[in-house]
Amino acid sequence: MAAKILVVDDDPNFQRLLTYTLKQEGYEVVVAGDGAEGFRLWGAESPALMLLDVMLPKLDGYQVAAKIRAEEGPSAHVPIIMLTAEREVEQKVRGLRAGADDYLIKPFHPAELLARIKSLLARFAPTETLVGRPPLGRILVFYGAKGGVGTTTISINTAIALHRELGRKTALVDGNLQFGDHRVFLDLGLDRKSIVDVVTAPSIDVDLVKQVLVRHDAGVDLLLAPPSPETAELVTQEHMPIVLEHLRSLYDYIIVDVDKKLDEINLRVLDAADTIFVVMTADLSCLKNVRLVLETIANLGYEQDKVRLVLNRSNAFTGINVKNAEGALKRTIDHQVVNEYRGAISALNSGAPFMFTKADSLLGRSLLDFARVVDKLPTTSTARLPNITPRRGLPGPQFGEAASWTAAESRLPGRNRRWAEDSRRSGFARTVCTWSNPHVGQADNSDRDEEREQQSGDAQRATLECLGPKLPLHWLLGCQAGQPAQPPDKSQVSRAG
Ligand SMILES: Nc1ncnc2c1ncn2[C@@H]1O[C@H](COP(=O)(O)OP(=O)(O)OP(=O)(O)O)[C@@H](O)[C@H]1O
Ligand SMILES: [Mg+2]
Repeated sequence: MAAKILVVDDDPNFQRLLTYTLKQEGYEVVVAGDGAEGFRLWGAESPALMLLDVMLPKLDGYQVAAKIRAEEGPSAHVPIIMLTAEREVEQKVRGLRAGADDYLIKPFHPAELLARIKSLLARFAPTETLVGRPPLGRILVFYGAKGGVGTTTISINTAIALHRELGRKTALVDGNLQFGDHRVFLDLGLDRKSIVDVVTAPSIDVDLVKQVLVRHDAGVDLLLAPPSPETAELVTQEHMPIVLEHLRSLYDYIIVDVDKKLDEINLRVLDAADTIFVVMTADLSCLKNVRLVLETIANLGYEQDKVRLVLNRSNAFTGINVKNAEGALKRTIDHQVVNEYRGAISALNSGAPFMFTKADSLLGRSLLDFARVVDKLPTTSTARLPNITPRRGLPGPQFGEAASWTAAESRLPGRNRRWAEDSRRSGFARTVCTWSNPHVGQADNSDRDEEREQQSGDAQRATLECLGPKLPLHWLLGCQAGQPAQPPDKSQVSRAG
């Protein structure tokens, strides 16, 4: 059956021209001469696609698009191509924000119009395979080897590319709980719901998660970071796996932009990931961090193919080329994203991601190539916890939790052993053992060889007992603050239980 196209334009010549062109291609055509009529016919005729002029009597094109989007049910979506005489980016952005899926600037060639129509109809076709299939449920974590390497830029634009260009149902999680940037990158206010609304509810179920998600105009659903650093504390390590599992049941891709800390919360996110993309740039300090991150990840017991390297700003001049970088890391760089500072920064500052407004830019095309490769990656079976029992939260275990803590020791055994010895020397008969991970950028290398030697973990498993006093948080996190790990002062320790 021919697809029905609704043309909304007040210019009779244009109506005739469009009707002729579309009918020649075999489409059924319905015509409206003003915005109100266009809105009415959308309801009455259920067209497969709409061509919507911007300047219209009664209701303009933006208003019509916004009204339709507001009234459409969650599973319905009529593709809208906005027809505009304006070349200005602001006009295009306004149209896209109002709910248009694409735009064409008048005058345009009929061949271009027909190509856009075909592509949109294919993208939104309610085929059995798309509607009926279960979501892919892949969790992709983006982790920056260093601050400012472009992790957020890549996460957001990959999510948009996966949805808009590849037709995948995509959720985007701002995992930088204290200083998440997604509201800025996507021009959203502090009043929008966030993960805090999930974790403060009496129980977390899939309907709650759905309600808290914020739909971006690009069609990606967002789980925003808490609105302020102090509310980030409400999110605990137990929450993330639950939230991610609910998202997995709803989406093809769940993109998580995590911050650099390797703390318990982020570890849980890494555990849940199907793939961890380590984002880097080609400079020495970043290469140093990538090596540390790769070693740390290996120590966590993940399989090799779970981690992929993304070189951002790959063609920027840094004096280190891709070959040098690969040589230093002794492994290949899996993906590259080009350098285009203007495109990236103006998208950031306008709150309109380039994959949404300038998908055909150099940067947009580079990100799309990346998203295409990502979409073709084989499903890994590594999105599971390494073989340990669940870890418990800092600052330390209570009596009776020996089992969960002995398991934690296998994660970075050398450090645990060293702390255990320090602690014993300070007069503690038994030692709390946890995997308190230093910020990779500040890690001291002194005990890394030792850690490697201790990989088996069996010896420590026997020596470390996991009952005992509650250690002060600052001691457990000593390395994270850039200090050497000091044994705790007995006077600081409160007895648990
Ligand atoms: N491919 C690119 N080409 C040019 N500039 C880029 C590119 N990717 C990101 N940038 C720019 O780099 C800066 C940092 O980007 P972004 O905020 O995404 O990094 P980040 O790693 O998430 O930072 P943070 O550590 O603060 O979270 C921004 O100004 C952004 O516009
Ligand atoms: Mg960021």
